[in-house]
Amino acid sequence: MALIRVHDKTFTPYLTEKEIHEKLQQLAAQLNADYAGKRPLFIAVLNGSFMFASDLFKYLTIDAEICFIKLASYKGTKSTGHVITAIGLDTDITNRDVIILEDIIDTGKTLSQFLPQITNQQPASLKVAVLLHKPEATQFHVPIDYLCFSIPNKFVVGYGLDYDGLGRNIREIYQLYSD
Ligand code: XMP
Ligand code: MG
Repeated sequence: MALIRVHDKTFTPYLTEKEIHEKLQQLAAQLNADYAGKRPLFIAVLNGSFMFASDLFKYLTIDAEICFIKLASYKGTKSTGHVITAIGLDTDITNRDVIILEDIIDTGKTLSQFLPQITNQQPASLKVAVLLHKPEATQFHVPIDYLCFSIPNKFVVGYGLDYDGLGRNIREIYQLYSD
């Protein structure tokens, strides 16, 4: 894989499609075991998680439901720190086994603000599954129950993640190379 340009920035290859899918299969196997005999409800956080949620869901063999919410806090390559619920939850989660699917935890602000809204609705259980986590950037605690990759504090694009709207269709994950 070679360097790519998205808008005005250069990105370098970081995770291959194969590496991503191997992790998704491991995560799905874990979820299939942990939720065997149950019917969990996955809540995927749009936009960034659409590809993660879609691919992971295909590896599940248990009975499972999925719904979507849209939260946004990012502008360009920096978090604005201000979380907006652009599309809210339309499903009753009371007494459900809920699993949040998030593409990336950066500062932790988005999920640390959203999770209390979920707990308020009294699910039977609540877990968080995350594709990428930047531990060095995290300022707000988020309990991560399932994690695919812990990554350095560098902006990433691809596999659903964007830089100002572009890059989501890239099958691999790329890391910011230079400004
Ligand atoms: P926080 O800081 O609230 O951020 O944990 C979570 C949301 O911000 C987006 N985000 C990124 N998007 N590359 C992206 O394309 C990144 O490196 C990145 N870091 C954070 C993402 O939407 C996530 O849900
Ligand atoms: Mg996101």
